Amino acid sequence: MTEKLIFEKSRPGRRCVPPTPSAPGAPPPEEILPPSLLRKRPAELPQVTELELARHYTRLSTKNAAVTNRFYPLGSCTMKYNPPAILSELDRPENAWLHPLQDEEECQGILEMMKELEEMLAEISGLPHVTLQPAAGAHGELTSLLVIRKALLDKGARDRHVILVPDSAHGTNPASSAMAGFKVRTIRSTAEGRVSLEELKKACGPDTAALMLTNPNTLGLFEKDIARICGIVHEAGGYVYMDGANLNAILGWTRPGDFGVDAMHFNLHKTFATPHGMGGPGAGPIAVTGELEPFLPVPRISRGPNGFLLDWNRPKSIGSVRGFYGNTGVMAMAWTYIRLLGKEGLKRVSAHAVLNANYLLSKVRKFLQVPHGEGCLHEFVATAKPLLSETGVRALDLAKGLIDKGFHPPTVYFPLIVPEALMIEPTETETKETLDAFAKALESLVQEARREGTEPFAARPETTEVSRPDEVRAVKEPRLRWTPDGEE
Ligand SMILES: Cc1ncc(COP(=O)(O)O)c(C=O)c1O
Repeated sequence: MTEKLIFEKSRPGRRCVPPTPSAPGAPPPEEILPPSLLRKRPAELPQVTELELARHYTRLSTKNAAVTNRFYPLGSCTMKYNPPAILSELDRPENAWLHPLQDEEECQGILEMMKELEEMLAEISGLPHVTLQPAAGAHGELTSLLVIRKALLDKGARDRHVILVPDSAHGTNPASSAMAGFKVRTIRSTAEGRVSLEELKKACGPDTAALMLTNPNTLGLFEKDIARICGIVHEAGGYVYMDGANLNAILGWTRPGDFGVDAMHFNLHKTFATPHGMGGPGAGPIAVTGELEPFLPVPRISRGPNGFLLDWNRPKSIGSVRGFYGNTGVMAMAWTYIRLLGKEGLKRVSAHAVLNANYLLSKVRKFLQVPHGEGCLHEFVATAKPLLSETGVRALDLAKGLIDKGFHPPTVYFPLIVPEALMIEPTETETKETLDAFAKALESLVQEARREGTEPFAARPETTEVSRPDEVRAVKEPRLRWTPDGEE
């Protein structure tokens, strides 16, 4: 059934036109609202022409760095191009005008789309049960860990309170573990940047709740011992949780469920071309085995004899983790992306993402050290440490220099196991010409550092309105209001 869904080209879905007050064709507000709630005078909205408005938004859009105006190789973020075609589902009035409080019978179309997306993600992951509720990747991690905790408590395994997290993990992994009430035990990686089986065996024990593994990891490496890793953890009585945010690298080629993973999350915004939400609005669905299914959040979408139902009667569930239906707009876009590409298209996405990353790696390796860089999947991590010792120029200086050359910088100083890290992820949607231009720009900065040292870098970037803000202070003490004189 799902195979068929992913293969098939789009077909018209079953959609209903809901009777929301302001939907096209609905009665005017004065016919359905009590007079006391009607406005006495028109709202004082700013009076601007359409052209002024267009200029305003165009000007604002040019202030943002975006994939549509520059190469954006921000490692770990998979900044791929989101084709406008995937917005088509959102444009349908049947989707756009739905209200989250409408009865289930009036929401059959959206429930059908959500159920199909669940089934497609189950097919892609090899894990049979999916919930779309979590609002982002990190929320998916937290939800999965709460599911695992409930399953352990259900088995009476109260002492299993430790999550094993490799030192190459994404930063959200230990944070989610702590939030879910677990203790974190770090596992050191091998020199080649993968999980050490010896360290893992030593770390596993009767207190192990789960291993939380980012795969492919943040060095852009696939854990090639994954089946043995899962075996070791299972033998110790723990679950294997996979941070599946890097799925873009293996999409359609292998399935976490097939190599032994018990639960995982997806970042729809990193893999299925939906917008990056910066904490929301987004979606971070999770997929689990049959053993963990009873603990998934409520409501579950199920097929009843008369259509789709929201099933709240799940006594072992962890409860709800999100209001209403979750972010259905993002779900509809992921649904459209998967349906448009089909199975072969999704495989091509991964193949191109890996090809682009390896091509760029082969160029960058010539002028910057790449410690784990014999080959990579979706991304690789270079280090500016030797350059720093030689010239005083740091990874941060190279990143700032790239801005003046018209590129968004790569992620810097992450992962923590690589000093002076530059984490580069080109994604599948970039051309060879763009990759060549980026490599050339980065190389010219390295050469400049060798020739002239730190001096030319001090004032960079020079092309932005703000040069080098105190980034830590900006996060800790955000100034969120603007006034003409710059004062609050
Ligand atoms: C590997 C990995 N795990 C988890 C996350 C967290 O996802 P989110 O930012 O949606 O919470 C990210 C985000 O990019 C990631 O790259």
